[in-house]
Amino acid sequence: MKAEYYKKIIDALIELVDEGVYIVDKDGIGTHYNEAMAYMEKVNKEDVLGKKFHEAFPDFSMSESTMFRALKKKAPTLKQQQTYKNFYGKEITTINSTVPIIVNGETVAAVEVAKDITSIRQMSDTLLELQEGALEHVLEDKEKGPALTPGGIRRYTFDDIYGQNPQFAQVVERAKKAAGNDASVFIYGETGTGKELFAQSIHYHGKRRNMPFIAQNCAAIPETLLEGILFGTTKGSFTGAVDRAGLFEQANGGTLLLDEISAMPYDLQSKLLRVLQESYIRRVGGSRDIPVNVRIIATVNEPAEELIEQGKLRPDLYYRLNIINISIPSLKERLDDIPLLAERFLEKHNKRFGKEIWMVSDGAIKRLQHYDYPGNVRELENIIEQAVSMADKEHVLTEKVLNMPSAARKLKQPEIDYTSNQPLDEYMAAVEARIIKDAFIRANGNISRAAEMLQIKRQTLQHKLKKYHIAGQ
Ligand SMILES: Nc1ncnc2c1ncn2[C@@H]1O[C@H](COP(=O)(O)OP(=O)(O)OP(=O)(O)O)[C@@H](O)[C@H]1O
Ligand SMILES: [Mg+2]
Repeated sequence: MKAEYYKKIIDALIELVDEGVYIVDKDGIGTHYNEAMAYMEKVNKEDVLGKKFHEAFPDFSMSESTMFRALKKKAPTLKQQQTYKNFYGKEITTINSTVPIIVNGETVAAVEVAKDITSIRQMSDTLLELQEGALEHVLEDKEKGPALTPGGIRRYTFDDIYGQNPQFAQVVERAKKAAGNDASVFIYGETGTGKELFAQSIHYHGKRRNMPFIAQNCAAIPETLLEGILFGTTKGSFTGAVDRAGLFEQANGGTLLLDEISAMPYDLQSKLLRVLQESYIRRVGGSRDIPVNVRIIATVNEPAEELIEQGKLRPDLYYRLNIINISIPSLKERLDDIPLLAERFLEKHNKRFGKEIWMVSDGAIKRLQHYDYPGNVRELENIIEQAVSMADKEHVLTEKVLNMPSAARKLKQPEIDYTSNQPLDEYMAAVEARIIKDAFIRANGNISRAAEMLQIKRQTLQHKLKKYHIAGQ
């Protein structure tokens, strides 16, 4: 077969597989980075393709990098488990294999294949929790405030929900009303907007507060196991199955939070609907109807209408769950809450790290308000947490210590005054130069700090400063 055919086959294959695939050439420059990998790492393909590995992933130390091992030492790394935070601060667990491609004794490329096993890890965690009966029977103790449940999960109440933005305050009011009754709740909000916070607050302020609160992410469990996890299994119903109560039985009298309900297989959604209508469950492989009384709070991170349209959410189930609808605004829709949120997170992490930062400077607030927060409040909290942990003896948190995601990312859509008579690379270079200049000024001319802000290596920044003739470099 002709070489170009092989190339076409490889290109097609890489996009077809479920695993993440990343390929670099002999110089470490990204040649392939598939959708699955981009989804897993929450990184834009364009930020990796055509870029050197260490520029695309500046946070990875060279010595730890399996790509580096493959390229420079011709050493493969097989099936290594890694747990790390992706770009949104969400913890993911992957199994990675990285191999050098060697032709005539020379390394010509390195290939990395990653499988996201976050779900499998969480599943085994859930199973362990079930076995240990580590349920959250925590008695309400107002004096103590939010506490840890025996399962080690933080327990939130409405006092932990910060925000005064009028639209947000209305949502909180609605949630407080929901706590006062027993109807199903359907929560929509992008990742990191506080869905778990709301769900727990509703539970712990309602009359079920002394009964269990159990959360299950429906996307975290292989489809085939989810039914057994929810409804329980009977011995012999499938290989290795034992008699075990499912989450519905365990949450009896309390609340079951079903996160990402749209990830639940369509058939199972109709079984769930039946359970909600009839108030009893049947274990997988069992023949006995077991009465259950569980309040359901379901969440999605895409608008329900879209999920229904895409065939991911059954409309009948949605209508049954959506008795109380809570739609949490994203952080970019309530940037007016940033000063308050920043201050609260500052207070919290000051205590944690034993620092004495008393306030956030106006400049820092301004900078924090000029960003769109794809990771929402979780991301803002991470930024403040990082700044506090890095601070020395200063009492004011200034913009200089804010390690915001690179301006390039923030300006996903640079104000485009692009006219077609300018070559694209020239235009992009001008945008890059502007961003770098801006960071350099904000870092008071400190190259290391500017590099940190831009999340690129110091050497890379130095090179670019020279290239764009910035600051006499
Ligand atoms: N309004 C808020 N006030 C205070 N903290 C918040 C608020 N919203 C979110 N947080 C914080 O942000 C983090 C993420 O919140 P949470 O886990 O509830 O988000 P989520 O919507 O469930 O996200 P995901 O979809 O990724 O599961 C938590 O640490 C939480 O304390
Ligand atoms: Mg959540």
